Amino acid sequence: MSDENMMKDLVSLCKRRGFVFPASDIYGGINGFWDYGPLGVELKNNLRDLWWKWMVLCPPLGPEGTEYAGAPVSMVGLDSSIIQNPKTWEASGHVAGFTDPMVDCRETKLRYRADHLVVYSYLDSTFLFAFNKETSLEDVEKKIHKFAKKRGSENIRQIFELGDFTKVIISDELKDRKYNYHSLDKIVAPDTLEPGTLTEPRQFNLMLDTYPGVIRDEAHKAYLRPETAQGIFLNFKNVLDSSRVKIPFGIAQIGKAFRNEVTPRNFIYRSREFEQMEMEWFCHPSEAKLWRDFWFVERQKFWTAIGLAGENLQMRDHDKDELSHYAKAGYGTADIEYRFPFTAPGFGELEGIAHRCDFDLTQHQKISGQKLEYFDQERNERYIPHVIEPAAGLTRGVLALLAEAYTLDPNRPSGVYLNFHPAVAPKKAAILPLTAKEDHVPAAQKLYMALREDFAVDLDIKQNIGKRYARQDEIGTPYCFTIDDQTNADGTVTARERNTMAQERVSMDRAGEYLREKIKPAKG
Ligand code: GAP
Repeated sequence: MSDENMMKDLVSLCKRRGFVFPASDIYGGINGFWDYGPLGVELKNNLRDLWWKWMVLCPPLGPEGTEYAGAPVSMVGLDSSIIQNPKTWEASGHVAGFTDPMVDCRETKLRYRADHLVVYSYLDSTFLFAFNKETSLEDVEKKIHKFAKKRGSENIRQIFELGDFTKVIISDELKDRKYNYHSLDKIVAPDTLEPGTLTEPRQFNLMLDTYPGVIRDEAHKAYLRPETAQGIFLNFKNVLDSSRVKIPFGIAQIGKAFRNEVTPRNFIYRSREFEQMEMEWFCHPSEAKLWRDFWFVERQKFWTAIGLAGENLQMRDHDKDELSHYAKAGYGTADIEYRFPFTAPGFGELEGIAHRCDFDLTQHQKISGQKLEYFDQERNERYIPHVIEPAAGLTRGVLALLAEAYTLDPNRPSGVYLNFHPAVAPKKAAILPLTAKEDHVPAAQKLYMALREDFAVDLDIKQNIGKRYARQDEIGTPYCFTIDDQTNADGTVTARERNTMAQERVSMDRAGEYLREKIKPAKG
């Protein structure tokens, strides 16, 4: 099946079985918004809870070969407000950075003022190159040569300036010339070597705004947070003053974020309302590299342990010229990428691990006038900590789990099953009386009542057993316990494993223990 068809089938399964629905479905939906159905919310909560456990309740042991080895790293949680004082977004750069005609580079995630870009080309080339206005001709030439070399052609002739980015991509007079200036896919953005990564210029701010209170004017405008991270920086001092954390330590948060994405697309991959799982790790500047490398490995372990392993997961260090403003001065950003069906054979970002330097705390200190320095008693030194930020998408993670789990199997009635790792599966087990007969149902109800205290389990009595197995396969339930005549005789049930469909007898009393053993994610 093609990746495109697989994606269509997955979206349809998600709706049919209650994972994800278009938001406001009965009104025809609303672009970029999605609702999580009965199974989707379980799947999302499982991913959320596993992240929280790995990061906050049971954080990893410190890096080997350092003074931090052998003991869990220091981590606390937070749940900050979605709406903060609008000055937050001035300090973070979102107010200034998200206005005017903007273009985004999909590859590097960098944003540019479209009216600050100029476009160059060279003879005999089908590619155009966008640069910031200030870029020297020397740098323009260097980059174009690098690009040509990568593509195996050194044959650069005359480099010439075509004009403003916005004019070049809309200009009618250039329309019929040799180069297709209308086509954004020919343009190479300033910080990448790949053509076609720039979006259309747009005039509005990426932040969604609102007006708390009764007055609706500019002075009373507030924003729905575009990232959860800033709530953490705002509470840095509160956390320091109220808990016993010492640097290095982290503050973790999971929550909604909103972005007025110009082109929400690919199901829940890029939506306007989504959820993030972010952690800001505060450390001494001299240890930023140590911790960046540490979190890079730890985060990969997490995704692997819950089922995103193998070829579909990739780690990629950003090149120096791909970095965001806050990461430029630091050790850069590394992405954990997943091969989504719509990016295949390429990959899409699942999580970024950035070295944000002291950018955010310095900015908030400047704009708020509040001291955000840390006094390090051991070093007898006052400084603004550096920050390492593993920032993952919760809802994007749900999509990766769904895509990874989707498995075609012509040998079973459902034709497909979801191969979830048991730790993330919405239902851990289904309890199925073989028939709706008197002698099977009471035992099934008893087992269900015992297991539901500790596990998300389903009791399914109606329909023939084949149909019920098929349904459980399609929603990714890893185990089915079937109650039959033998149950009443010896107290055992059939445990059926989803992937292999293999069956074994398990004592009813041991069913909970059996499940507990099976659903544990492997610790890295
Ligand atoms: N605080 C840093 C930050 O927000 P980001 O790369 O913009 O960095 C982090 O976002 C993660 O949030 C991404 O790796 C992605 O998984 C998720 N994400 C970002 N925009 C999203 C969107 N529009 N829809 C769904 N998930 C999104």
